Amino acid sequence: MTKLWGGRFTEQASAQAEQFGASIGFDQKLASVDLRGSLAHARMLYEQGILAKEEWEQIEQGLNKLTETLDTHVYTIQDEDIHMNLERLLTEEIGPVAGKLHTARSRNDQVATDLHLWMEEHINALIEAIEGLQSVMTVQAETHVETIMPGYTHLQRAQPISLAHHLLAYFWMLERDKERLKDNLKRVRVSPLGAGALAGTTFPIDRFRSAELLGFEAVYPNSLDAVSDRDFVIEYLAIASTIMMHLSRFCEEIILYATQEFSFIELSDAFSTGSSMMPQKKNPDFAELIRGKTGRVYGNLMGLLTTMKGLPLAYNKDMQEDKEGVFDTADTVLQSVQIFTGMLESARFKTEALEKATTQDFSNATELADYLVTKGVPFRNAHEIVGKAVLHCVGQGCYLKDLPLSTYQSFHPDITEEVYDLLTPEQAVARRASYGGTGFDAVRTQLSEAKAKIAN
Ligand code: ARG
Repeated sequence: MTKLWGGRFTEQASAQAEQFGASIGFDQKLASVDLRGSLAHARMLYEQGILAKEEWEQIEQGLNKLTETLDTHVYTIQDEDIHMNLERLLTEEIGPVAGKLHTARSRNDQVATDLHLWMEEHINALIEAIEGLQSVMTVQAETHVETIMPGYTHLQRAQPISLAHHLLAYFWMLERDKERLKDNLKRVRVSPLGAGALAGTTFPIDRFRSAELLGFEAVYPNSLDAVSDRDFVIEYLAIASTIMMHLSRFCEEIILYATQEFSFIELSDAFSTGSSMMPQKKNPDFAELIRGKTGRVYGNLMGLLTTMKGLPLAYNKDMQEDKEGVFDTADTVLQSVQIFTGMLESARFKTEALEKATTQDFSNATELADYLVTKGVPFRNAHEIVGKAVLHCVGQGCYLKDLPLSTYQSFHPDITEEVYDLLTPEQAVARRASYGGTGFDAVRTQLSEAKAKIAN
């Protein structure tokens, strides 16, 4: 078969090299955006008088036909990539006039255009999926404003908190991820089309018109940059890595909380798996998989950064390596967000176990220190006194709430009966009323702010 670029060649391509160089195996994902790009390019060529009316009409009709029959296309390795495969199919459809479509265009600006268009569609879908997850977080939070659980630092019991507060922490991480994606879109919605191979074109094209037809917001001002820029992809891969990192942290907690040792959460059967050998097992596989897939998403970021680091201007074939990583990341992140949403929505938090945990620890020690401060004791001294009281309890095998008043008064004479109420986890949570704190009312305020974010 002769190549579209075969004019200056006399020998046949090596079959192995052809296989090695072809991208059709993966870039066929770009078929529908490639056709959109071609439709806009053809119309612009006609409007600028570069294509005759009948030529444009035939090309447009052929491209529309290919769009309708997308699922039935047969692509070949010999046609190397999606661009040349579609050109061949268009030629089969409308004859030699198809050859006029590539006027004032190169595969270099074509593939860049495709990637911009594809990324825009994907990022919009991802933002929507993230909002779905955020919505589930607010629903779970709403149910659990008054559910008390241990709050941790260093994975050691620290202070009791509202479960809603814990859940909403992840809401805000995702909110920042969404902001980053929206910002990324500013660089994604820029048109490289019309940059040609690298230097622009001698034809009187209108790049702003084709950009407008494709819904881009701007046009690259430099043709070399237009065809060789993959910053917008790298940026996306970094954002995707951050999203996975956030999900992975939450997965780690879910895996831990689902253990018999913690028993804070029960995952639904729909989002758990069994063991082929041990009949009693109920494993949090999907949380583990999301945590595990974070690695490949980080890998794709490193991969593209490394591919790009030594490239001279402008297009280099190395850049064909951008696609598999970004497609893989896009599938992985989107599915991870969706699976996580179902897993969280159907999970049951074991409220009794969570609350019981907060009555069997020293996470109310700060309460006692703060109380002494209200009696005029400097915080440093109060800290020391409470430390001694905790040590005493450890020796006695009891908790702070169990100490008799006389013992308290031996630590400090101003301690009265009122201390016992302050030491309850409910009070410890309720009294943290500072903005952004875990106090029940502060959490209610936070929850309404969260809901307002996703209502827009
Ligand atoms: N398949 C190529 C890629 O993905 C398209 C651009 C090819 N351009 C070229 N001059 N060989 O990057």
